[in-house]
Amino acid sequence: MIDQTKLPEKLIFVEYDDYKQVAEAIKTLVVRGAPAIGVSGAFGMALAALNSTANTKQELLEDLESAKKILIETRPTAVNLAWALEKIMKVAYEEDKVPEIKNSVIQTAKSMANEDLQTNMKIGKYGSELIDSHDTIMTHCNAGALATVGYGTALGVIRASKESGKQIKVIATETRPVMQGSRLTTFELRHAGIDVSLIPDTAVGYVISKSMVDKIIVGADRILRTGHVFNKIGTYQIALIANQHGIPFYVAAPLSTFDMKSNPKDVTIEQRKASEVTTIGDKKTAPDDIGVINPAFDMTPPELITGIITEAGVVKPPYEQSIKKLFKAN
Ligand code: MRU
Repeated sequence: MIDQTKLPEKLIFVEYDDYKQVAEAIKTLVVRGAPAIGVSGAFGMALAALNSTANTKQELLEDLESAKKILIETRPTAVNLAWALEKIMKVAYEEDKVPEIKNSVIQTAKSMANEDLQTNMKIGKYGSELIDSHDTIMTHCNAGALATVGYGTALGVIRASKESGKQIKVIATETRPVMQGSRLTTFELRHAGIDVSLIPDTAVGYVISKSMVDKIIVGADRILRTGHVFNKIGTYQIALIANQHGIPFYVAAPLSTFDMKSNPKDVTIEQRKASEVTTIGDKKTAPDDIGVINPAFDMTPPELITGIITEAGVVKPPYEQSIKKLFKAN
């Protein structure tokens, strides 16, 4: 995988041969973005299967369960990780013999990677129908190829719009404190030849109020059956400002990002370390021992969301009904 902590200064590929290294990579944001950590988790399980010295189905399942426990604890909010690990465990339980289990786990991880790419291209296609030529689209955090296996969700919609011949511009927020917007989104969009301008997070109100934005598209880490969307910290305030100014606010995410069981209060918001806020690079930007609140995600309520773009189509309010219908049909 690409070490995302080194971008944009260095493009470094890292290789892992142990699931514990994969767990550490997820925890330290070497790989991040909901679909990317889901598929990375699946490959972590593939490594656990490959490296297991178990002789019986029972022993192998125990090895896989312990790998799953370590991988699932790395990041609690993005539901794609749990979704991927459950899917791997399901195929492992279905087989009878050790070599068959190992093979099935590895093949499932590989097909999840292929499917993720196809899924994003479908999201792109549906989403691009909502975009007009000459639109300026604001996005937050990074929901691009780096955050997925390839193509991206929110950035997939932007890519597909360009590929269909529309002229579009993008405004990317910096996305403090880890700067996924300035480090990753601008890097990806420039690479794709898409016009992108970077703004500080604090300029969202300014650019929207000056009519510089036509639409907003973000990704998601978890979407509830009620249409509540958990995404990178700062998403909620962008949705509020968009609503105040009548700007459409879209979320692009695969069906694997939906959590049909939880209620808003059940979702754990990951709290990250204080140093992400008290330093920029090696430079200290706050007094020693200052109290810090550093949630990685926030929740945007359904009434602020114009539509949710999935690989099976776009759902619109009222979300309880439209999401239920979407899952019934898929
Ligand atoms: O903390 P991160 O960088 O993993 O957070 C990522 C986001 O919030 C993305 O918007 C989300 O995972 C969607 S990625 C297609």
